[in-house]
Amino acid sequence: MTLRHFLRDDDLTPAEQREVLGLAMAFREDRHLRQPLSGPRAAAFITDKPTLRTQVSFATGIAELGGFPMIVDGNLAQIGKRESIADTTRVLTSMVSAIIWRTFGDDRIEEMARVSTVPVVNALTDGFHPCQILADLLTIAQHRGGVNALPGQVLTYVGDGANNMAASYLLGGATAGLHVRIAAPSTYQPDLVIVEKAAAIAATTGGSVLVSDNPAVAVAGADVVATDTWVSMGDEAQAAEREKPFIPFRLDADLLAHAKPDAIVLHCLPAYRGKEITADVIDGPQSVVFDEAENRLHAQKALLTWVLEQR
Ligand code: CP
Repeated sequence: MTLRHFLRDDDLTPAEQREVLGLAMAFREDRHLRQPLSGPRAAAFITDKPTLRTQVSFATGIAELGGFPMIVDGNLAQIGKRESIADTTRVLTSMVSAIIWRTFGDDRIEEMARVSTVPVVNALTDGFHPCQILADLLTIAQHRGGVNALPGQVLTYVGDGANNMAASYLLGGATAGLHVRIAAPSTYQPDLVIVEKAAAIAATTGGSVLVSDNPAVAVAGADVVATDTWVSMGDEAQAAEREKPFIPFRLDADLLAHAKPDAIVLHCLPAYRGKEITADVIDGPQSVVFDEAENRLHAQKALLTWVLEQR
């Protein structure tokens, strides 16, 4: 048995990701299918940043898995300031069966994982949002005939190519065998190291990776079109300077028309209508964003069940 953490999308192999997504599909059908936290055993959800979906879906999910969701306000805990990450982790692991952390630098959650004796799950860092991508893959599977239908789907993400969602689409999408296309302004392109890692994974799964600064070309023929805020948490001071370069990457009806007629639209939420996505698109018939939000619950329950059962 092995202690498994989920800090970034490529912490799951393609086979492991398929297993988790298959279990997530089963949790969609039966919310009380498995209870790996029965007792109840506690799982800690810590957040250093704002959240709605992530906190609610983890808290609900932990309860539905038979456990107790221990919500820790990062502003009170002040991890790394009031107490070291290592000492905090040692205290938590004496009491909880898993730690789920939304924080800033990836170095923080990596340090926690090095010390932890229980699974550590990334609930969003500056670098990655892997639980969101599991939910997005589940949403594509839900609308495309199941997990086996994922390989070969063309997913285009338009917007900030340098943010955590783009990095996670690259790694998680490539792991699922998707053709991942990122369309971003030339000054907001993904980290080359992540692009190369995603391309290496795609070479083993039949997927592919494309990075472009032309949104219409990238969206052409896509099965799935995704976007995200132009101003991620931590980038607020750059909000004004970020607006202009992103305007051509706004997901509106004209841009969506380049995709397949039955393409679905994803947005991890919260959305800023009139900025990265227009109201007619996010509220239109191709949008599945509220299925996507609900799928956070099912995907994370499957992930928690899977990591807990590896021990
Ligand atoms: N998509 C997402 O992570 O939502 P929250 O920031 O509300 O948790």
